[in-house]
Amino acid sequence: MDPYLLGLRLEGRRVVVVGGGAVASRRVPALLDAGAEVLLVSPKVAASLEDLAAAARIRWEARGYRPGDCAGAWLVCACTDDPEVNAAVAVAAEAQRTWYVRADDAGASAVWTPASGQAADVRVAVLSGDPRHSAGLRDAILDGVRSGALSARHGRGHRGGVAIIGGGPGDPGLITVRGRQLLAEADVVLTDRLAPRSLLDELRDDVEIIDAGKIPYGRAMAQEHINAALVSHAQAGRFVARLKGGDPFVFGRGAEEVLACLRAGIPVTVVPGVTSAVGVPASAWVPVTHRGVAQEFHVVSVHVAPGDERSTVNWELLGGSSGTLVLLMAVERIGAVADELLRYGRSPDTPVSVIADGTLPTQRTIKSTLEQVESRIAEEGIRPPAIVVVGNVVNVAAEITELIRHVTALRTG
Ligand SMILES: C[S@@+](CC[C@H](N)C(=O)[O-])C[C@H]1O[C@@H](n2cnc3c(N)ncnc32)[C@H](O)[C@@H]1O
Repeated sequence: MDPYLLGLRLEGRRVVVVGGGAVASRRVPALLDAGAEVLLVSPKVAASLEDLAAAARIRWEARGYRPGDCAGAWLVCACTDDPEVNAAVAVAAEAQRTWYVRADDAGASAVWTPASGQAADVRVAVLSGDPRHSAGLRDAILDGVRSGALSARHGRGHRGGVAIIGGGPGDPGLITVRGRQLLAEADVVLTDRLAPRSLLDELRDDVEIIDAGKIPYGRAMAQEHINAALVSHAQAGRFVARLKGGDPFVFGRGAEEVLACLRAGIPVTVVPGVTSAVGVPASAWVPVTHRGVAQEFHVVSVHVAPGDERSTVNWELLGGSSGTLVLLMAVERIGAVADELLRYGRSPDTPVSVIADGTLPTQRTIKSTLEQVESRIAEEGIRPPAIVVVGNVVNVAAEITELIRHVTALRTG
């Protein structure tokens, strides 16, 4: 017979889980997400379950199963590795008319657990005869919902307002799941020059795409026009996605856009993104911190040079520190920056990495020193967008890439 599909609302209801191994470790967090009161019975449990018990999120009886353990339960999960114990649990649950899952024997289970998952507010559960097939279908559906390929945008309750979305440093795979979901729901998308533009190809034909990088006037003026466009489209009842590069609140003027929306009475949400300040160095194997090498990192915008009256950066402090420096918008002003850091105490042979077009197919990395970085950038013709990393962590990247070469050589014979 085909099963009858339901969504169990477990809030405040007792669920008894017998067994504390890998299956229980997967089931218990999902039961807690549904609000269940979990009683776990097992002499030993996996570390993640022990943590949940220590945090009083579940009650753990550290012993074997005993008759009577299922009393008061709405649902019982028998997931020990002993079929006899699982069978005894199932018999007890059946006798008291409580639904039960036997992890070791689907045929003897009163309930089957579907392959399930969630994309934003959509829950997906798939049951087929074959758990692997179910999981594959579940993944395909979730991917479709997240990318917008499976969208009920016109059928669902309308989402208004503005979402300021951090798109990550450029690789379309580095946007968050929530960012992609909201992008797929948008009626209008305002995008930046450094946002992951390849995601725009996935949008439906009727989505209006506005290239904010092409809005005329000077920098400050352009921002006012962007703010005005966000507000006016939202006021017209459209759901507006503002797709930005990296994280919206890291040198991204995201908070200005939030304030402009709120001042106009428009509901606004922010989706954090992978900032280029950390993601781009990582894409070139540069860790911004490393035990015993760098205990701190400083992220600095060099959109104005040291010495410029608009600069608020304390270069003396940065020159005197041994922490990693991550410099954004620094390519054109790198000579002045290097001079300043040398003046305040950094060594001329401090390693420097310059990573242009990070995470994109055109990514380029050069390694240099503080003394030579300006001429190396000129020689190599490095152009923005680029991140400059100053500090000994750059040597860790060199060590990693050397080992990768070695491992690759071994594997390819
Ligand atoms: C106006 S800031 C925006 C930063 C962004 N909000 C973030 O969190 O990554 C622009 C600067 O970010 C850096 N940047 C952004 N994307 C980059 C990429 N893919 N590769 C290298 N640098 C990048 C460059 O220094 C660029 O000049």
